Amino acid sequence: MNDFDTKERIAAQLLAVRDRSLTYTEADDDLLLRQHSPLMSPLVWDLAHVGNYEELWVLREAAGITPLRPEIDDIYDAFKTPRKDRPTLPFMGPVEARRYIEGVRGRVLDVLDTIDLDDPAPLHRDGFVFGLVIQHEHQHDETMLATWQLSGQPGLVRDGDLPQGRDRGPEEVYIPAGPFQMGTTTLPWAYDNERPGHRVDLPAYWIDRLPVGNRAYAAFIEGGGYDDPRWWTPEGWQWRRGTDSTAPLFWTRDGDTWWRTRFGRAEPVPMDEPVQHVCWYEADAYARWAGKRLPTEAEWEKACGWDPKEQRARRYPWGEQEPGPDLANLGHRAARPAPLGAYPAGAGAYGVEQMIGDVWEWTGSWFHPYPGFRSFPYKEYSEVFFGQEYRVLRGGSWAADPAAVRTTFRNWDYPIRRQIFTGFRCARSERD
Ligand code: AVJ
Ligand code: FE
Repeated sequence: MNDFDTKERIAAQLLAVRDRSLTYTEADDDLLLRQHSPLMSPLVWDLAHVGNYEELWVLREAAGITPLRPEIDDIYDAFKTPRKDRPTLPFMGPVEARRYIEGVRGRVLDVLDTIDLDDPAPLHRDGFVFGLVIQHEHQHDETMLATWQLSGQPGLVRDGDLPQGRDRGPEEVYIPAGPFQMGTTTLPWAYDNERPGHRVDLPAYWIDRLPVGNRAYAAFIEGGGYDDPRWWTPEGWQWRRGTDSTAPLFWTRDGDTWWRTRFGRAEPVPMDEPVQHVCWYEADAYARWAGKRLPTEAEWEKACGWDPKEQRARRYPWGEQEPGPDLANLGHRAARPAPLGAYPAGAGAYGVEQMIGDVWEWTGSWFHPYPGFRSFPYKEYSEVFFGQEYRVLRGGSWAADPAAVRTTFRNWDYPIRRQIFTGFRCARSERD
């Protein structure tokens, strides 16, 4: 691939993600300026934040251009202003925010024109800094979708076609003992927390072929799962009691039917879809009720991407090919997970399905650095989150973009969070 192709592709990705952000902020001022939940930022904050981040990393750090508007930095620094305080800030309104990010973008495209992608400087090489801002913006776009869902506004519901489900195949897949490569040293746009690639030797285990579906989850509820402390950890039970939660977020019961609201629409819960909007405590309790447990992060990644025949880690379960519509449900084609079994062609080498797309999957692991981790390009992306506070999520959701999803990609959140597009699958050790 020559340099020109690469720059064209970077430019196309920059354009696509900006298109997405602008679509998600096409709304009246009230909707954009309001804080729909203390967990979320006003939508227009996200919009200017991605522009400010792009300015910081591409223009200032990679290209040495002086700040366009230094006085706004604190407002858009996620650490200086926690989400709950964001509505009180003098942040830019929609018109000003759009003008600002467009001004940044114009200069960013000039930098792209002149940058040397073979320059060994780590922000420059292979266009790393562009990968950083593209992925960052897509992650905020997914966050904006969660904000829209919380707002109950219908604007972003989409009804794109998804493949049909199928209910043939084993419930669980056996993964024999042995080493695999976890993480990556070579993927040019991988984040610091995915590095370096390292060998992990796992005992044999079983993992569910598919994510847990709504039908199975409803059986857990109806079997008294939320009323029996045996299934919950002490913290989980405390969460269950304190919040009085008795079903996934956005679910309600009417007679014999479970309903959900999805982007402002009420509909019966489709029983053949992966469950979403459950927190880690709910996932963990369900797994115990089912006689299983959540997979560790390593178990999840081995089942997703390891090719035991070739002894190679694949970028996606099916190989290196970009995730097209027959392989995975990504990129907000429809505002929902696809039915269970919809992607046989997207299976990994061991036969595990729907690991990429549909719903983020909770794992049993805390967010920790890999051996040999080095923070790059800044501590506040990953390093400050390491420890026993956040649980790791894997695989991406229907709302995630292919640019920010791969076998090695790591996401994380507090165990109480469920506004994100999150489900799970179960695993068990060989001898359980
Ligand atoms: C990796 C999704 C947890 O949204 O807080 C966005 C990504 N980092 N801006 C988040 C991120 C900085 C991050 N997550
Ligand atoms: Fe951010």
